[in-house]
Amino acid sequence: MFAFWSHLLPVIKLYLLGLKVLLTQLFSRPFRLPVMPRQDGKVAIVTGGGSGIGYEVVRHMARLGVHVIIVEFKKLDLASLQSVHQFVQSFKQRRLPLHILVNNAGVMLVPEGRTEDGSEQHFAVNYLGHFLLTWLLLDTLKDAGKCGLFSRVVNVSSSAHRIGKIRLHDLNSRQGYSAHAAYCQSKLAQLLFSSHLHQELQRGGFPVTSCAVDPGMVDTALYRHLWTPLRLAQSALARLLLRTPAEGAATVLHAALSPALEGECGGGYWADGCRQMTTPPTFDPQLQLSLWETSLQLLGLQ
Ligand SMILES: NC(=O)c1ccc[n+]([C@@H]2O[C@H](COP(=O)([O-])OP(=O)(O)OC[C@H]3O[C@@H](n4cnc5c(N)ncnc54)[C@H](OP(=O)(O)O)[C@@H]3O)[C@@H](O)[C@H]2O)c1
Repeated sequence: MFAFWSHLLPVIKLYLLGLKVLLTQLFSRPFRLPVMPRQDGKVAIVTGGGSGIGYEVVRHMARLGVHVIIVEFKKLDLASLQSVHQFVQSFKQRRLPLHILVNNAGVMLVPEGRTEDGSEQHFAVNYLGHFLLTWLLLDTLKDAGKCGLFSRVVNVSSSAHRIGKIRLHDLNSRQGYSAHAAYCQSKLAQLLFSSHLHQELQRGGFPVTSCAVDPGMVDTALYRHLWTPLRLAQSALARLLLRTPAEGAATVLHAALSPALEGECGGGYWADGCRQMTTPPTFDPQLQLSLWETSLQLLGLQ
């Protein structure tokens, strides 16, 4: 009975949350990105930049003159720690600066499966791979930032973090798998990471900020693993209820590029172009630290 509810509850919670977001979107206008100045000379890495929200982020950045790295090198597979290491190594060999890192790539509701490193897919791709990528690129981000022009790490999370639970003793869902709970956990983990990273950077006096962004519910391939009847309903109503990928990219671009946010966006959670309050666990310093230290251990970085 307990196992049944522990599987069903995350499903109910996630769909109720989705319904609430959809209704809010129906009665509100999407955030419109203000006109941005040219950004020539800046270098950005955008994970998952080949489709969906990431593609729109890349397109807009490139139009403003940013040198954007998507998959210029070998494929960056965030589900493989070795691939992340290799990607960073090839990037560093080019001796380019790095001003913006957008941790955007993601998977949702994928069937149970393990990465080559033995991690659960949502946890690995959405969170741990990005943790490692950011960690390995921190020195480059610090070198490129300066007073009045900080480098920025933007973590693309989701409102799903609000119902996420961090299972510190079972981050990889070995004791039971719920795709819904795993997605929500990974999105909460991104926020905890983003906030803790920002505090560490501030404490060290480094010219780098880190923030988290919710793009809203957006019509992309992310929903391909949704239960078929829901997926069909979703595609039928997409135009009415969902944001377009360009609209979803607006807050991400705002956080990554906006001069108005210089020194302002760090540590925060951004949705619809504004800094927003969110759930208490997100700001729990003990939870942030425990997840940070466990992640370092999992990555063999301590
Ligand atoms: N769409 C929404 O309603 C929504 C809502 C809230 C948050 N988000 C977040 O927004 C982000 C972007 O999602 P999206 O909606 O744009 O979905 P999408 O169109 O499916 O894009 C996801 C991107 O991530 C890449 N990716 C997946 N697994 C990867 C891996 N192992 N290594 C490297 N890249 C990988 C995909 O590349 P391939 O195509 O090559 O697999 C794709 O380019 C995600 O973090 C998602 O959680 C989306």
